[in-house]
Amino acid sequence: MLDKNQLEKYNQEHLYEYEKLMSNNEKYALEDKVEELNLEDIQKLYQHLYVNRQSIDDISSVSEVEYEVKSKFTEKEKYTYEQKGFEAIRNGEFAVLLMAGGQGTRLGYKGPKGSFEIEGISLFELQARQLIHLKKQTGHTINWYIMTSDINHEETLNYFKQHHYFDYDSNHMHFFKQDNIVALSEEGKLILNKDGHIMETPNGNGGVFKSLKQAGYLDKMERDHVKYIFLNNIDNVLVKVLDPLFAGYTVVHNRDITSKSIQPKNGESVGRLVNIDCKDTVLEYSELNPEVANDFYNANIGIHAFKLAFINSAVDRELPYHLAIKKLKQLDENFGVVELPTLKFELFYFDIFKYGTSFITLQVPREEEFSPLKNKEGKDSVETATEDLKRMGLI
Ligand code: UD1
Repeated sequence: MLDKNQLEKYNQEHLYEYEKLMSNNEKYALEDKVEELNLEDIQKLYQHLYVNRQSIDDISSVSEVEYEVKSKFTEKEKYTYEQKGFEAIRNGEFAVLLMAGGQGTRLGYKGPKGSFEIEGISLFELQARQLIHLKKQTGHTINWYIMTSDINHEETLNYFKQHHYFDYDSNHMHFFKQDNIVALSEEGKLILNKDGHIMETPNGNGGVFKSLKQAGYLDKMERDHVKYIFLNNIDNVLVKVLDPLFAGYTVVHNRDITSKSIQPKNGESVGRLVNIDCKDTVLEYSELNPEVANDFYNANIGIHAFKLAFINSAVDRELPYHLAIKKLKQLDENFGVVELPTLKFELFYFDIFKYGTSFITLQVPREEEFSPLKNKEGKDSVETATEDLKRMGLI
């Protein structure tokens, strides 16, 4: 039996009532899960992020990041960076890390977002092709680390298997899962999902480095003498996965964090790369007043290279959770399925920047490097992604 007093103390007494309606197996599963959870921490998170939430309004200490513009490089500079990049890739100095644990909710697609196909070519394939091409150019097979989550892990593995890893060497592909965290009702209560289990959702992309470590892959990178981790999102159909010029730019400047950016459009749903107290960081669009956002010239496009030594030094440090409110299907007190606004807690990978000490950003042309597939229709949709892929001759 669940401990009623303990539940009351943390605003979770409803679970005691739910338990009365459950079969024995369901009860045991619920008790085990509640035992595992730290109810006090969960209440603190609720109080901090929801009850006492604050928006980012004071931006007096926020300034533009230090950045260079790729289109201003001379041909000679471009050539030099590219050659340095090829050399570093050939020497095995880079690992590639793809974050693919998110849900394609806005796209209205049920499978892993990476398996979404445009004219028969999936987002995964678009990225795999580039690594194969790099192998041809350098003779080196890059280790490709792919983060999934509980909601898409098996499907992702199956998808790659069915497609024979797109002819990439599967010994150099490493899949690992991010963690989950409980979701809460707006009253701060734990929720049962449609299967009658305590609802948990993926903990945001900021879990990426800890999960990489837990899977033993930071150690593997050390053993492989990797120096930099190149990171990217799944949904940018124009992403240049470890392009040699950016690799060279990373190696030459050798900062803890090297980022790519584009110039944002007014009101665009992209984070803004900024500098606060001598550290680069991202102010996320969902937490930022749009007028403030428009003051900054560098948008985050989820493309970075991190020094492995920096990641190793920062991976065990704490990152803050952020709040997202999404309508999710769940059980009500009569165990009927309802859809209600639900509090989801997410870590953001760029919060690790605060532990870095050196940064640099390269601003690249949007039309060549950024076209995210986020929505079913309209902006950043299947239609715009298809047009951009055709325009660039990629499909
Ligand atoms: C993200 C960036 C935003 C940037 C925009 C560019 C974050 C928090 N925000 O916003 O600053 O301007 O991309 O397109 O990264 N993911 C996981 N696990 C999760 C959640 C997400 O692996 O739990 C992955 C997604 O699969 C995707 C990436 O992280 O590859 C970005 O996540 P998404 O939810 O698409 O972020 P955006 O809101 O688009």
